[in-house]
Amino acid sequence: MKAKGVRIIGDKARALCAAAAAVTALVAAASAQEGSMSLRDSLAGYFAVGAAVQPGFVDAGDAHSRLLARQFGAVVAENAMKPESLQPVEGTFRFGSADKIVRFAERNGMSVRGHVLVWHQQTPLWFFCDPDDPAKPASRELLLARMRIHIQTVLGHYRGRVRAWDVVNEPLTDGGSLRGAAEGSKWLEIIGPDYLDKAFEYAHEADPDALLVVNDYNLERSAAKRDAMYELVKGMRSRGVPVGGIGMQMHISIYGPSADEIREAIEKFASLGVKVQITEMDVSIYRGTEAEVPLTDDLLDLQARRYGELFDLFKEEAGKGALDMVMLWGLSDEASWLNAFPVPGRSDAPLLFDRELKPKPAFWAIVDHRAAD
Ligand code: G3I
Repeated sequence: MKAKGVRIIGDKARALCAAAAAVTALVAAASAQEGSMSLRDSLAGYFAVGAAVQPGFVDAGDAHSRLLARQFGAVVAENAMKPESLQPVEGTFRFGSADKIVRFAERNGMSVRGHVLVWHQQTPLWFFCDPDDPAKPASRELLLARMRIHIQTVLGHYRGRVRAWDVVNEPLTDGGSLRGAAEGSKWLEIIGPDYLDKAFEYAHEADPDALLVVNDYNLERSAAKRDAMYELVKGMRSRGVPVGGIGMQMHISIYGPSADEIREAIEKFASLGVKVQITEMDVSIYRGTEAEVPLTDDLLDLQARRYGELFDLFKEEAGKGALDMVMLWGLSDEASWLNAFPVPGRSDAPLLFDRELKPKPAFWAIVDHRAAD
């Protein structure tokens, strides 16, 4: 009896062990497949694909840094290269966090996008004030001199190490006019409309090999803004201003805009002879300010179809020479700016990796088309 009992227990144990081994093999196969599938490799023949990062993400041993290096071929600092980070006080440059990101990219054979030199946000107030009386605005000459020092110090520091720079960010309103004081920008008010030409000239002097980009949002959504960007860059190029690219931020939703609208904007810009870059892509699960919803499989599938169709479009445009870089605005859902905007605290899920850094259906729709079928 005892021997039989032992044999029964032994049989059960063997069956359990066999089942466990099968599960282990499946898990290992799945993670090996995940490990062998990378955005970076899948898209290498088309364009560099990258993500916006926070300085902590690139610390050795941080799970974000392993995922970044495995999956992406490019990085951009989400906030660490903005004027308030690099020159918080006039004449005092702080490159520590940004340098860390650039060194990480270089160690991992990734390229770097520089964001951003001239913007109306995250730029310290001192730029725009008279040093003798901060209640008064700086003169045109002083603001131009400060702009030149900022651009040339930053580009001089990173010369040859940053492939493309957002020289001017968000210069247009959705209606298609140059953003002025009423829309929160002092650059136009103090310097005048030639502030864009000057910014690009200063940048080109400091790093003649960098691709110099004007970057904005809603270019695929607002025909007025798209046409205004086209005219703006056309005018700059006719004056010999060294603008080489148009950045389409691509903060979009699972509900729109359509791939056709996006194609139209890319092709219109490319017809100017400049490169188009997708600079800050994310695909919100919301329409505007609607209330928080649970993240269902249906939403994830819809998002996967959107990412899949748009990356197909980007590949097609890259094949025509129109587009050369696609950056996601973040690595994983927990750290997206969309958890704080436009509804603070509303949980969004706009990126390719979830809150546990696991690939989402949208990831598989890009690296493996069978997932999107
Ligand atoms: O650094 C402070 C921290 O000290 C403080 O405790 C905390 C409290 O809220 O705020 C921190 O600053 C935040 C900063 O991000 C760094 O996390 C600011 O409040 C917050 O406003 C800022 O948001 C950034 C936003 O630009 C500012 O406009 C987002 O992270 C960043 O993703 C976003 O990026 C912009 C692009 O540069 C341009 N295109 C649009 C895009 C999305 O808005």
